[in-house]
Amino acid sequence: WPAIAPLVAGINRLKREKNAVILAHNYMTPDIFSLVGDFRGDSLQLAREASQVPQSVIVQAGVHFMAETSKILAPEKTVLIPSLEAGCSLASSINGADVRLIKQKFPNYPIVTYVNCTAEVKAECHITCTSSNAAQVVEAIAKEWNSDTVILVPDQYLAKNVAAQTNIRILTWPGACEVHEQFSAEDVAQLREAHPGVVILAHPECPPDVLEVADYAGSTAALANYVSEKRPNKVVLLTECSMSDNVAAVNPGVNFIRPCNLCPHMKRITLENIYDCLMTGTHEVTIPEDVRVRAKEALDAMLALPK
Ligand code: 13P
Ligand code: SF4
Repeated sequence: WPAIAPLVAGINRLKREKNAVILAHNYMTPDIFSLVGDFRGDSLQLAREASQVPQSVIVQAGVHFMAETSKILAPEKTVLIPSLEAGCSLASSINGADVRLIKQKFPNYPIVTYVNCTAEVKAECHITCTSSNAAQVVEAIAKEWNSDTVILVPDQYLAKNVAAQTNIRILTWPGACEVHEQFSAEDVAQLREAHPGVVILAHPECPPDVLEVADYAGSTAALANYVSEKRPNKVVLLTECSMSDNVAAVNPGVNFIRPCNLCPHMKRITLENIYDCLMTGTHEVTIPEDVRVRAKEALDAMLALPK
């Protein structure tokens, strides 16, 4: 802590001077998450905060598509991301031209996009979803379009996991999260053998055979809430490594067993580059206005659904 104290103090001072707020995703390292983050949460919570915070500058402590989401919802604000290299394997798996081809091929089916995608992709889709509302969004758009089939891009595993919860037919796209696709049902079996009684929680970006044998699946916020409410003796979070650190910090007495995978994109955000970003105003996220307006329609359609 002593080594990072001046950096933390500097960031908190710059936030006041520049009228800035830091939105920190649950996968940020604990120094960022606990010491400089003003709002913390999953993708849906951070998107809701972006449109409500009073500050004129948003620093997105997360990946690029999250910063774009903030800019789409709060165009009058300056949105900064500390590293332009903080991407996402799902967001880079599909582009706007891909979605236009899908629409040509299936003009009668609504297209839902997981928020883990670029603004350009959101602009081409009818509605967005996050890991905490994907099933609700699919059912709502199927009803609105009176369609028995919905297209959900770009996460093939999220799509299959939602399909298991609904009677709606879901077509998808071969994208995957490079972090969550690494978990297997075999990992779960080994964990149960090595740690009898362990509770295993998984993110819905994991492959379906993992969710079938996990005890519970949910967004990063839902996983954190599960631990705080149920307080299991021993728990595994099948997701990004910083989740266990952040959830453990507020749940003393819960034993976290930690097979986990690092997201290299999330880990590109550091206290150092948050400081530089506030100091120099880089990197500012911009989106062409016509794209932003259409992407906002897809986000607004999701945000209008009951919480
Ligand atoms: P959440 O919306 O559940 O926080 O997920 C975002 C993400 O990138 C998970 O990999
Ligand atoms: Fe993308 Fe996966 Fe990293 Fe989330 S954990 S940002 S889905 S690569």
